Amino acid sequence: MEQIDWGHLPFGYMKTDYNVRCTYRNGKWGEIEVCSSEIVNIHMAATCLHYGQESFEGQKAFRCPDGKIRIFRLDENAARMQSTSRGIMMPEMPTELFIEMAKKVVKLNERFIPPYESGAALYLRPLMLGTSAQVGVHPSDEYLFLIFVTPVGPYFKGGFACTDYVITRKFDRSAPLGTGIYKVGGNYAASLKANDEAHKAGYSCEFYLDAKEKKYIDECGAANFFGIKNNTYVTPASTSILPSITNKSLQTLAEEMGLKVERRQIPVEELDTFEEAGACGTAAVISPITKIDDPEAGRSYVISKDGKPGPICRKLYKKLRDIQYGIEPDKYNWNTVLD
Ligand code: PLP
Ligand code: COI
Repeated sequence: MEQIDWGHLPFGYMKTDYNVRCTYRNGKWGEIEVCSSEIVNIHMAATCLHYGQESFEGQKAFRCPDGKIRIFRLDENAARMQSTSRGIMMPEMPTELFIEMAKKVVKLNERFIPPYESGAALYLRPLMLGTSAQVGVHPSDEYLFLIFVTPVGPYFKGGFACTDYVITRKFDRSAPLGTGIYKVGGNYAASLKANDEAHKAGYSCEFYLDAKEKKYIDECGAANFFGIKNNTYVTPASTSILPSITNKSLQTLAEEMGLKVERRQIPVEELDTFEEAGACGTAAVISPITKIDDPEAGRSYVISKDGKPGPICRKLYKKLRDIQYGIEPDKYNWNTVLD
């Protein structure tokens, strides 16, 4: 095998040895297939290609200091994928089968799990596609579910470091009663232009307000938002954001650390009052926020005066990472440990 530079991996795709697949036909899921091809052979009229019947997930497996391999909160990814399936009329992948396939694909690609010291991880990408040919707008009869894996480094260059965001008022990633709560490809297509503009203007990511009123905070690109003030963890309640598993975990840990947790609408002006804030998701865990500019409103919200992550962000980040790496006891049973 070619040498992998574990310490400098991008958040990108690298070919591994195997993926696992399962087909839904005649109303039921079939047997698990192990596949060494990276190619999906698909009908040109498949519903995933035309009508967006496609969903995905993302989770990480870690090589831990005790030599074990742990995968974080797989049951939550399975549950979210089931919710997405209900949202766009695809069949639900049962939790047990989802977990069995995830464990299998990680084991089959064990040599691609980065060493603990590198800070990198093996990213799992479950994917579901509607594969039957349709020209009318109808759900598919048949579906392909697969999981591939790829070793990844930090999502943002610099890892756990503060970055800047820019509020976009020109684009919405999802509508209030649309598909924002589901993990479907269309939401990401809708974010590409805003993301490109933000990058070109020198920001790490775009920042969305609610699509209807542009009054409340929604999401930070492909991550949830949280702010810290007065010993309280505040995160948006919204019908158009993805329910982040990292955010849910951080809320549990914040409560354990003695913080109050509030899930509510957050008016954009409230950004002025946060002592700390971060974007959270599987890829970055926590990406602390330095400032959020709102050029169209002629405002800027500086969150970290010294440009460094605050003490609560640091503590939350460390606690979550230590659970993922088996360093702290897994008292909520979040990890699947491979034997
Ligand atoms: N929001 C969006 C739009 C995402 O794509 C993701 C990533 O999956 C998240 C939030 C963070 O979710 P999680 O913590 O489950 O990775
Ligand atoms: C995340 O894991 O936090 C993400 O946003 C995943 C992204 C690559 C779609």
